[in-house]
Amino acid sequence: MARAALSGLLIGLILLVPAVQAQTAAPRTFEDSMAQRSLACTHCHGAGGRAAPDGYHPRIAGKPAIYLYNQLLNFRDGRRHYGPMTQLLAPLSDEYLLAIAEHFAALQLPYPAPLPHKSSAELLERGRTLAYQGDASRQLQACAQCHGQNLTGMLPHVPGLLGLPRDYLNAQLGAWRTGKRRAHAPDCMADIAKRLQPQDIEALASWLAAQAVPAGSAGAPASAPTSAPTSAPTSAPTSASASAPRGAQNPATACGTARSPQRP
Ligand code: HEC
Ligand code: HEC
Repeated sequence: MARAALSGLLIGLILLVPAVQAQTAAPRTFEDSMAQRSLACTHCHGAGGRAAPDGYHPRIAGKPAIYLYNQLLNFRDGRRHYGPMTQLLAPLSDEYLLAIAEHFAALQLPYPAPLPHKSSAELLERGRTLAYQGDASRQLQACAQCHGQNLTGMLPHVPGLLGLPRDYLNAQLGAWRTGKRRAHAPDCMADIAKRLQPQDIEALASWLAAQAVPAGSAGAPASAPTSAPTSAPTSAPTSASASAPRGAQNPATACGTARSPQRP
């Protein structure tokens, strides 16, 4: 079943190449055919990429395009590990992956309500405090400093932290901690995850997964509208406060991201 879906997708993706090239001439045709041809992605990632109900296959719809693009490169190039995705993406070019990323980023679909949970109030409060204040005693930055005041992400490449299942969050933070998941250097999340104890990860994953996603939230643009993410301050602030002045440079501009492929 999965194998059939995968080979169907591969054929669809190969057929798509001319459609990508014709993109500027006929954007509508491109949109429609991408929707058709991304069916194997949505087979695992849920209708329109809004996540599968199994609590693991993550949402891809509406995430920042450059974040999605970075992840597709990460799976293809071995910084993230999930066999079926790596195989699927192996033959595809950077241009192609950017087109897929832009397709899913443009899909604004409603988020489901958070699942019921049995976490203690104490655990949730610990998660909330770490997310908004971090822990200055061990130079742990607040998640909100990079992921936005509402934790709904920052364009162009920082994803939101709400609307993700607890198991998925646990697995991702654990994978960063052990070096199994990596991002483009400098890999800010590897540094953050190594400062987190297993109890912190449990608290963060539990609290984040229990929050509703605010209506109409898409990632806010980073304050400095720069195309070159490397033009960032050399040292990210370590003070853990969510009350950074509005308009302050988001420390995530110093984190690694891929350079977009040149388009003809
Ligand atoms: C066989 C099932 C399967 C298929 C097919 C599949 N994915 Fe995935 N995908 C996964 C799983 C599982 C993960 C999470 C892996 C992990 O990190 O543990 C994932 C992760 C991702 C992520 C990272 C999400 C995030 O928030 O970091 C992106 C982006 C993604 N997939 C896009 C795609 C696209 C685009 C396609 C189609 C070209 C696709 N996937 C096809 C199973 C699948
Ligand atoms: C210095 C900036 C920075 C801080 C602080 C930060 N993050 Fe991140 N985070 C990032 C960036 C950049 C990415 C995208 C990494 C990539 O491209 O894979 C990311 C990605 C993530 C992801 C992956 C989401 C997904 O869909 O797979 C999770 C989970 C995450 N961060 C959790 C946290 C938590 C929890 C905290 C607070 C303890 C935190 N982050 C603090 C910059 C930051």
